[in-house]
Amino acid sequence: MNQWYCSVCHETLESEDKPGKCKTCHADDRMILDMENVPKSLEQVRDLARKKLKGICAAYPSCDGSFDKICQKEAYGKPIGLGGAGQGRSFRANAQALENIQFNMSVLGEHFEPDTSCSFLGIDLKFPVLAASTAGAQKYNDALDETMFCTSVLKGSKEAGTIGLRGDTWFYTPEDNPSLNAMKACHGHGIPIFKPRSQDVLKQLIEKAEKYDCKAVGVDLDGCGSTIMALHGQPVFKKSAKDIEELVNFTKLPFIAKGIMLPDEAQKCADAGVSVIAVSNHGGRVMDSTPGVATMLPLIRQKLGESITITADGGVRTGYDVLKMLALGADAVLLGRDIIRAAVGAGTLGVKLHLEHIRKTLKKAMFMTGTRNIKRANSKIIFKP
Ligand SMILES: Cc1cc2nc3c(=O)[nH]c(=O)nc-3n(C[C@H](O)[C@H](O)[C@H](O)COP(=O)(O)O)c2cc1C
Repeated sequence: MNQWYCSVCHETLESEDKPGKCKTCHADDRMILDMENVPKSLEQVRDLARKKLKGICAAYPSCDGSFDKICQKEAYGKPIGLGGAGQGRSFRANAQALENIQFNMSVLGEHFEPDTSCSFLGIDLKFPVLAASTAGAQKYNDALDETMFCTSVLKGSKEAGTIGLRGDTWFYTPEDNPSLNAMKACHGHGIPIFKPRSQDVLKQLIEKAEKYDCKAVGVDLDGCGSTIMALHGQPVFKKSAKDIEELVNFTKLPFIAKGIMLPDEAQKCADAGVSVIAVSNHGGRVMDSTPGVATMLPLIRQKLGESITITADGGVRTGYDVLKMLALGADAVLLGRDIIRAAVGAGTLGVKLHLEHIRKTLKKAMFMTGTRNIKRANSKIIFKP
């Protein structure tokens, strides 16, 4: 008898041949691993992802949208895959903006153990790093089922001591929605971010999120440029401050406005009553030639003051990058592409291993900059020549 492992729910299965389905969570055989090959390290997870994403993403150590990477170098006429829009300039700007920031390394003082714990929308987290809202992994070489992708991200985030967001795309419908299916399976420990669909459709989706006990809801306002949604009969729209206010008032859940890159627009969303401004250019996927997120973040924080929660994402690959975003004004930081690769590589286990690794490097970065706790991450730790 052979032993098998379900990478979504961690169940051990015994059978001669690889089981077609996990008997506990019903994940299909794409998520079931031979017990002997269960990854123990992040590098093993990334090796598995590299194989499954052949031709789409090579899980490079530096994921920055440059032209020597598979996702970007054959951009003409190819589906966007994991790359950036157009020439990939916004994607690269995210990485470059983080690259341009350096720390003041501090070695004197009393020894301490960095405390990474924090609270996000009243939820206690082990560290301020969330899985970003992403969608569509099922379409990459048919690597995994979309609901299992979403479930892996939510479960893996929870097991690492944090929370996951989930995205929305053209093959998600109000009736059959992998993000909401996973929210239900994970007892609402997650935050669905919906595309800027019509107000009526958004209200339907928000009602379901409330029913499943989700912790917040949101809209990626920068998703308004998507053409593929309309092609599949699910049009998206630019939203006015009034539309946002209507949604904020419609739901009892905290509301996240994602995809904000301008201080004035951040202010308008704050005035409309949103709980979180998610500073993001969608990983450079909705428009070419924006500045990097780390460039805009301090300007948005300066405009809004301290009273509102701000998240940032785009090009964050290590705990060092996380600390940079926190020092520039974010309360929490989201990881996009790396979490997709982790879930494709090894489901819940992959996501958990990835996030635990990020926490470890965040602790190291905090220690070496003299940052005792998350609240103390501020611009003083950033080198200014
Ligand atoms: C393949 C892919 C799909 C994405 N889908 C969504 C989505 O459905 N909704 C959303 O709000 N953002 C989506 N994003 C953007 C992420 O939430 C996040 O802003 C971005 O990935 C952060 O940059 P990073 O990938 O460099 O970490 C997607 C990103 C990628 C790479």
